[in-house]
Amino acid sequence: MYSAEPGAPIAAPLNVPSFRKMKAQAQRIVCLTAYDASFAAVMDAAGVDLVLVGDSLGMVVQGHSSTLPVTVDQMVYHSAAVARGLRRAVLMTDMPYQSYASPQRALEAAARLQAEGGAALVKLEGAGHVLDSIEYLSARDIPVCAHLGLTPQSVLKLGGYRVQGRDAEAALRLREDARRVAEAGAEMLVLECVPAALAAEITADIAIPTIGIGAGLQCDGQVLVMHDLLGVTPGRRPRFVKDFLAGAGTVEAAFVAYAEAVRKGSFPTQEHSFQ
Ligand code: KIV
Repeated sequence: MYSAEPGAPIAAPLNVPSFRKMKAQAQRIVCLTAYDASFAAVMDAAGVDLVLVGDSLGMVVQGHSSTLPVTVDQMVYHSAAVARGLRRAVLMTDMPYQSYASPQRALEAAARLQAEGGAALVKLEGAGHVLDSIEYLSARDIPVCAHLGLTPQSVLKLGGYRVQGRDAEAALRLREDARRVAEAGAEMLVLECVPAALAAEITADIAIPTIGIGAGLQCDGQVLVMHDLLGVTPGRRPRFVKDFLAGAGTVEAAFVAYAEAVRKGSFPTQEHSFQ
């Protein structure tokens, strides 16, 4: 149950510039997804730095087989709920499928996610034509997180959820895309399901922080889908997932264990990474 105590002392709230400072000081960034106020409050108290309202909610909350059916209205609704649970962590919200098909559409959706949903950053998948939207939003002071590697909104074109950037040509393209999103003004970059060595090269290449999921230990931070961290992963569990609830006893202890493991660099291990 959501129970942030009004007036209780809290550590200084983080903000968007905090993450570049953390990269510069080699402090790992702890990120988790949330979809409601109650879990958001528990992870905030557990020391999670960045909370992502992922469009993964289409799969883990709504039960769809992909993220494609998620709408801007739904992201606004969940984002506003999560915002009410946070006191210290920064809130980032996904722009759903085709909501950034043009820079103007991106601006309309991003403005709603910020003004109604309380998001500090919005996240967009891909490079190519998406660079125009990243630039357009950044020029209007809307902080943007890019997302490269496995981009789930492209699942139909990719033909499934697979590791990306494995051959030399794809790896080079990914490195170039990472530079381009940073040049377009992105504040941060999520790297999903890419070989650990490639993610390490990208992390060293660009000044903005990288947040990995299935991208090895050398990223500047890590993100997991909350359900996966709590062992609620129906079917085959992806390689990069670890159940932190097993052995932790409580949900809060599981979030604390995850945050400590990310900060100490004991998660992810090679077992959770791709070569
Ligand atoms: O939608 C989501 O939860 C995400 C994370 C997997 C990074 O984009």
